[in-house]
Amino acid sequence: MCGIIGFCGYLDAKEELIEGLSELEYRGYDSAGIACFTKEGIRIVKAVGKVEGLRNKLPVNMESGCGIGHTRWATHGEVSEVNAHPHQCGRVTLIHNGIIENYHELEKELEKTGRSPKSKTDTEIAAMLLDSLYTGDVLEALREAVKRLDGAYAFCIMFSDKPDEIYCIRKGSPLVCCVSQDGSVVASDMVALLRYSKEYFVLPEFMVAKVTKKTILVTDLEGNLITPNILSVHWDMSAAKKNGFKHYMLKEIHEQPEAIARTLAPRIKKDKYMLPDFSKDGIDDAVFAHTTRIIVAACGTAMHAGMLGKILMERILRIPVSVEIASEFRYSDPIFTEDTLVIVVSQSGETADTLAALRLAKEKGIKTLSIVNVKGSSIARESDYVLYTHAGPEIAVASTKAYTAQLAAFYLLTFRFAYVTGRLNEKEVSDYMEELSKTGMLMEQMLDQKDRVRELSKRLTPARDLFFIGRSLDYALSCEGSIKLKEITYIHSEAYAAGELKHGTLSLITGGVPVIALATQGDVFSKMISNVKEVRARGAMVILLIKEDNQTLLEEEIFDEKFLLPAGNDLFAPFSAIVILQLLAYYTSCYRGLDVDQPRNLAKSVTVE
Ligand code: G6P
Repeated sequence: MCGIIGFCGYLDAKEELIEGLSELEYRGYDSAGIACFTKEGIRIVKAVGKVEGLRNKLPVNMESGCGIGHTRWATHGEVSEVNAHPHQCGRVTLIHNGIIENYHELEKELEKTGRSPKSKTDTEIAAMLLDSLYTGDVLEALREAVKRLDGAYAFCIMFSDKPDEIYCIRKGSPLVCCVSQDGSVVASDMVALLRYSKEYFVLPEFMVAKVTKKTILVTDLEGNLITPNILSVHWDMSAAKKNGFKHYMLKEIHEQPEAIARTLAPRIKKDKYMLPDFSKDGIDDAVFAHTTRIIVAACGTAMHAGMLGKILMERILRIPVSVEIASEFRYSDPIFTEDTLVIVVSQSGETADTLAALRLAKEKGIKTLSIVNVKGSSIARESDYVLYTHAGPEIAVASTKAYTAQLAAFYLLTFRFAYVTGRLNEKEVSDYMEELSKTGMLMEQMLDQKDRVRELSKRLTPARDLFFIGRSLDYALSCEGSIKLKEITYIHSEAYAAGELKHGTLSLITGGVPVIALATQGDVFSKMISNVKEVRARGAMVILLIKEDNQTLLEEEIFDEKFLLPAGNDLFAPFSAIVILQLLAYYTSCYRGLDVDQPRNLAKSVTVE
């Protein structure tokens, strides 16, 4: 959601801002704009649609070394040029990521000062407020503004009487900063800083960053100097590029074996036995020893990883696990017990509802552990324990490698937990770990089937409705397969627990409706096959995913297409099955001629409620 970039340095600011905005496109947006200090004062250019359109509108003579840029994902006010950022009021020009919740009330007050907005945005009201408070002292104005603004925000602000300086402040919404030879840069995420530096810092909440060519000075609102904590990333620019793949999503699907290896490798201790080990993550065994109940809170794909994690943990640990949609959880007055562990899962570490769920648990004094990809993100910083997935930057809106890395993290946690609490002995854990460490290889094998998946996708392309069915782990996986498909193909798709079909959804199964049936779990195999027969009897086009070792159990051809998954322990089948589902969604989207990486209306990182 909304991308922010600010540059102050020795290069052509407008070019740097446009490049930065292109790198932030993946967050999801509908319009874009920049503002630069020039000899003639602050100049603003905005455009509806893609960043490329904005680039084409830029005047050649807009010479500047300092400016701010924004990609907007509309929340308040329709998609239009006037609603696009930057917004200007008097001496204040700013961009914003977040939502100002009390903007209406502020607007009424500010109208009395003769200021009225041109746009329908909450952001312009923030610009008006700051302008009304600004008398030449930035800190004083920000101090007052912070008292008055409710909601979440990351602001980059230019004051017309402070040329070549950018001021930033944030609450909730992310903002990262770096200083390089070319200048100082701020952005809503690290991907836009990579061109300049691998070292960066997260602007602490309510602290002010004064960005100039040579440096970024961080102070509190009273002006006391703060030394931010410097973080570094291990990946370089190529990790965030397409590297020859047509789309980021396809690249990220292919990166999964490597991503999983990065999740697992730092946590595998190999001696006589292969055991999971979190000593470097600072996750104490006492966390597991004292837990009798687990709540997983997350959104979207991360929540689907939690659904799978629940089945796995309950099966092995024999303790109750519930999975909560973070946006519901926070308003549900949840019941916590002293020995509850709350696990929050988030690729970005910035999803507003997941962050709120985490904060709620912390407020109640409950232990929290997060499974996060982005280093230094809010969720990672605020949870008691963090298990980084190290999946590398994920650019496509449709999550793939982040999901499988989250699954791998759940398996690791479960096995350590089981070992600590004596549910499994060393040998049993070690055997499971051996298999877990081979999942990357299983995924490689599935990637080899991509041509077949591509062919099959042609048949799905005209579909209007589509269903995924499965039981147990396969049901959790069906939910992920279904969201993947619907978000990038715009085909209506539903995931159903196969046994539940008869209670309503079967009425939608008619001739030719595609049903993707996952039958990888031996304990429910025969039941699952009965469900497949039921949909086939009603004319469904069945695509069946089964494991090689279960093939012989199939008495008849009850499918139109079949994908064979490698033989082995059923517990690890999700890793191979998901590759087929991801590829199916990917190729169907391609055949439908859609924007695979940036599907309409969606955002990569949902930083508002
Ligand atoms: C958005 C993304 C999804 C993601 C979800 C949760 O909807 O498009 O891919 O699963 O947010 O994001 P998180 O960063 O918390 O995992």
